[in-house]
Amino acid sequence: MNKTIGMIYDQIRPEERLLIDSARRKSLRLNLHDAERIHVDLFDLEKKEPFEDVILQRCVSYFRSLHLTASLEKRGVIVINSSRIASICGNKLLTTLELAKAKIPTPRARLAFSVESALDALSNLGYPAVLKPVIGSWGRLVAPLKDVESAKAILEDRENMFPLYQVYYIQEMIQRPPRDIRCFIIGDAVVAAIYRYSPKDDWRTNTARGGAC
Ligand SMILES: Nc1ncnc2c1ncn2[C@@H]1O[C@H](COP(=O)(O)OP(=O)(O)OP(=O)(O)O)[C@@H](O)[C@H]1O
Ligand SMILES: [Mg+2]
Repeated sequence: MNKTIGMIYDQIRPEERLLIDSARRKSLRLNLHDAERIHVDLFDLEKKEPFEDVILQRCVSYFRSLHLTASLEKRGVIVINSSRIASICGNKLLTTLELAKAKIPTPRARLAFSVESALDALSNLGYPAVLKPVIGSWGRLVAPLKDVESAKAILEDRENMFPLYQVYYIQEMIQRPPRDIRCFIIGDAVVAAIYRYSPKDDWRTNTARGGAC
């Protein structure tokens, strides 16, 4: 096979290096596209140049990757992952709905759109709970709601933020040790898993927040 595929990136991390090395080993031509140097004509739906038929989407930025993928798909480019998959996996609410539909157990969660209804949902779900932005990573703005008072204060704060942060996704707090387990799954198999321990000054276990793994 001597097809050329593309890879869009915004940072070359160890994972992208591995993909580049792997393509080289397999004698597969891999063209690299720096997302920050790309502009796409949204009305030019036929022409695929300078893009390949198949492109790996590796942007770290969720919004950049989603919008770029959708634009390329309209031109007939096969992008991995697709915009449909990316939008589900990058959104905690959409992910929860898919997992619930597939009967995969996850923490109980509620959705609300005002402080009052969020407090109602909380009295239903019980304290402590966790408030999360539906889109976000590295544990940013993932907040523990210990009781009604702290819930009111945190929700009031969110009312003054960008509208995305007023989509209240509230999850039951899992009673866990000061670590969690992150598993990487391919198909039906767990191919790797790590313990992630929270740092001294934070309850979250994200390595981006200083957690050890
Ligand atoms: N329901 C919960 N019960 C207990 N701990 C939680 C709960 N939800 C989140 N946490 C803690 O907060 C951290 C951040 O939460 P979550 O993974 O949902 O956010 P994220 O921003 O998507 O993070 P990442 O970028 O690692 O995916 C988790 O790693 C975990 O330590
Ligand atoms: Mg996440």
